[in-house]
Amino acid sequence: MHRKILLSSLLLCIVSLSLSAGNPEISIIPKPVKIKVLQGTFRISDRTQLLFTAGNEEAMNTARLFAGHLEMAGGPVLTALGVGQNYKKITGIIFSIRKDGTLPAEGYKLTVSATNIIIEGETGAGLFYGMQTLLQLLPPEIFAYQSLQPGKVWEVPCIQIQDYPRFGYRGMHLDVSRHFFPKEFILKYIDLIATFKMNTFHWHLTDDNGWRIEIKKYPKLMQIGAWHTDHEDLPWNQRPQQLPGERATYGGYYTQDEIREVVAYAAKRYVTVIPEIEMPAHSVEVLAAYPQFSCTGGPFTVPTGSYWPNSDILCAGNDSVFTFIEDVLTEVMSLFPSKYIHIGGDEADKTRWKECPKCQSRIKTEGLKDEKELQSYFVKRVEKFISSKGRKLIGWDEILEGGIAPEATVMSWRGIEGGIAAARQGHDVIMTPGSHCYFDYYQADPKTEPKAIGGYITLKKVYSFEPIPGELTKEQSKYILGAQGNLWTEFIPTPEHAEYMAVPRMNALAEVTWTPKNEKNWNDFHKRMETCFHRLDALHVNYCKGSNKVEITTYFDQKSSALKCRLESEQPGVPMVYTIDGNDPTPTTNLYTGPFDISRNGYLKAGLVRDGKVMELTERTMLFHKAIGKKVKYLELYSYRYTGGGDEALVDGLRGTVEFRQGNWQGFLGNNLDLIIDMGTVQPIKTIFVTFLQSSKSWIFFPDSVTFSLSSNGKKFHSINEYLNTDPKKIEETVIKQFSNSFPDTPARFIRVRAKSTGVCPPWHEGAGEPCWLFADEIAVY
Ligand code: ACM
Ligand code: ZN
Repeated sequence: MHRKILLSSLLLCIVSLSLSAGNPEISIIPKPVKIKVLQGTFRISDRTQLLFTAGNEEAMNTARLFAGHLEMAGGPVLTALGVGQNYKKITGIIFSIRKDGTLPAEGYKLTVSATNIIIEGETGAGLFYGMQTLLQLLPPEIFAYQSLQPGKVWEVPCIQIQDYPRFGYRGMHLDVSRHFFPKEFILKYIDLIATFKMNTFHWHLTDDNGWRIEIKKYPKLMQIGAWHTDHEDLPWNQRPQQLPGERATYGGYYTQDEIREVVAYAAKRYVTVIPEIEMPAHSVEVLAAYPQFSCTGGPFTVPTGSYWPNSDILCAGNDSVFTFIEDVLTEVMSLFPSKYIHIGGDEADKTRWKECPKCQSRIKTEGLKDEKELQSYFVKRVEKFISSKGRKLIGWDEILEGGIAPEATVMSWRGIEGGIAAARQGHDVIMTPGSHCYFDYYQADPKTEPKAIGGYITLKKVYSFEPIPGELTKEQSKYILGAQGNLWTEFIPTPEHAEYMAVPRMNALAEVTWTPKNEKNWNDFHKRMETCFHRLDALHVNYCKGSNKVEITTYFDQKSSALKCRLESEQPGVPMVYTIDGNDPTPTTNLYTGPFDISRNGYLKAGLVRDGKVMELTERTMLFHKAIGKKVKYLELYSYRYTGGGDEALVDGLRGTVEFRQGNWQGFLGNNLDLIIDMGTVQPIKTIFVTFLQSSKSWIFFPDSVTFSLSSNGKKFHSINEYLNTDPKKIEETVIKQFSNSFPDTPARFIRVRAKSTGVCPPWHEGAGEPCWLFADEIAVY
């Protein structure tokens, strides 16, 4: 012991001139609030003392977790020992929980000097996050396991960090019903969550395709509800139902012992596990086991894939259904200490309830208006039970319909609108909109990606997410607890594939939920991800290496009055080539070196060069016209889901393509396009055109009409023409159409373009009566 102290005091402070603020070696994700890089390093050797404030069990646990990382990575084997409160001058690594109130909960201070490393957490969680930051200051190999790394130098730069999260809820979800994942993977997933300072694992334990939690009182849930016939070889949407006599062999469930193990493992890493038990819909697997809880009496089998709508749901008129739910939730709450219990509540098709005498009788006796209010009755009744046990109910945003339960927390998934409505009513909200947080969507070009459920959410798109909607007041914003990434697994059969879809998008979300808004910076994050990928390699995580497509954007440079084109990719350092004349670029033509000017119409093709070959091309039509870079005033708002890039999107010289999910179109949901372009000065105008996209499958329709009008003062407009759209709506293909207008030179400064949306989906459409989309791109003026 004595020898140890003597030797460790000889630790060298190695001056490393390459270390300074912004050094790439400081690559922490999520980015800390405050970092001050100092000169020198602290080297961890097998003589380093590892200390925690004596008597503090949480500090001891986290010190031991750190020792475990070092040892597993083949580094020094250290034993954590207790130390008193006067540790500032002691040589070694010191873990301490010190509630001094200077930092918010979950905050920490990390100080590395040549003498010691001191991590002080405001709470146990804060200390744990300080430890995670320390790991990210070490070489990426610290995350390796079962690998001896002789000669590896375990060195930490001298640094001072103060850090705390922006949001208290930083979550990741995993659906284990559509596909079943072994316990070992669940633990790895929790490790990933904790590594990036997220603090909630939302475990989607039950759904149509399988019940995944042992409930002692209802054995058929495990005997029948957890299994379906194995059609893994067939596409998800083409799987036949179980036939009489067929054996159900795909599935599984977690025993209560396994669940306890997972919850304890997570707790040590400051991850709360929120269980989700779906009701009243997404519950056919329950009905397969206990058909008496349905409206019709069944029989049912556990579905092998998806069909829609899934009308067989729990009967809301049958009291024994509520007894069942209370019994199940009682066992669930005995396993999960979380404040929150998630009861699903999404996508309940009410067909059966409309036909069921028991449900209809409930509507009458309870004085309910309709089936929506019956769902509200259902959720409120379950909430009463959950509240009586001191817990809080969470549900998907459909729980707002028919009246929200008094204390419920809303998970806003069908956009952010549900979250806005809930916050305005004084309910807590977790943001997890399909526009940014659905990690089962494609993250790169579908042509080169493994089959996914649909959609398109790139790493950059996740990073751009702002959980607090601009519509909320400061007071209402307090109800936004944070955000969560959802991983539904219809198209994700294996742990490796789940990692591929979750990572690195969860890294982007980790930064969205942790880092102060004004500290976020995409380019900086992307650079830090390069180091993070080495850590993920060490962790054996099968992350997605990013899209191989070039992203084309333009911007108007006010200084030089020029339209500039910028090429970016998710592959830093890989060269990009491009042409603007419609020919394919070769590996050596027009190497991209930085933003270039665009001064005429053209057809841009750009691609990455790898192994002497140009990879898949991105192609865009460029329109060089007079309105480029001009100010656009919107009289009706575009949706946050499809901004096309924002207020400049329609005058940026780039026209969208049929691959509309890739972010180039501006979408108006239910709204019209109605805007005024200010050309700056009165000038002759003789042609205007605007382009729209239609894709009926995706609820996007051409406008019914387009009106162009001109003004010299911005007050009095005279209409030049109105175009009525005569193109058919009922076609499958995605089509693009230009609405144009040429006329004799007319002097004007202001141009108003108004495209009247169809408003709602037509009667023959699956979304009949629901708001539809209007998708516009470039408004070109000549
Ligand atoms: C959901 O995606 N149905 C919540
Ligand atoms: Zn019923």
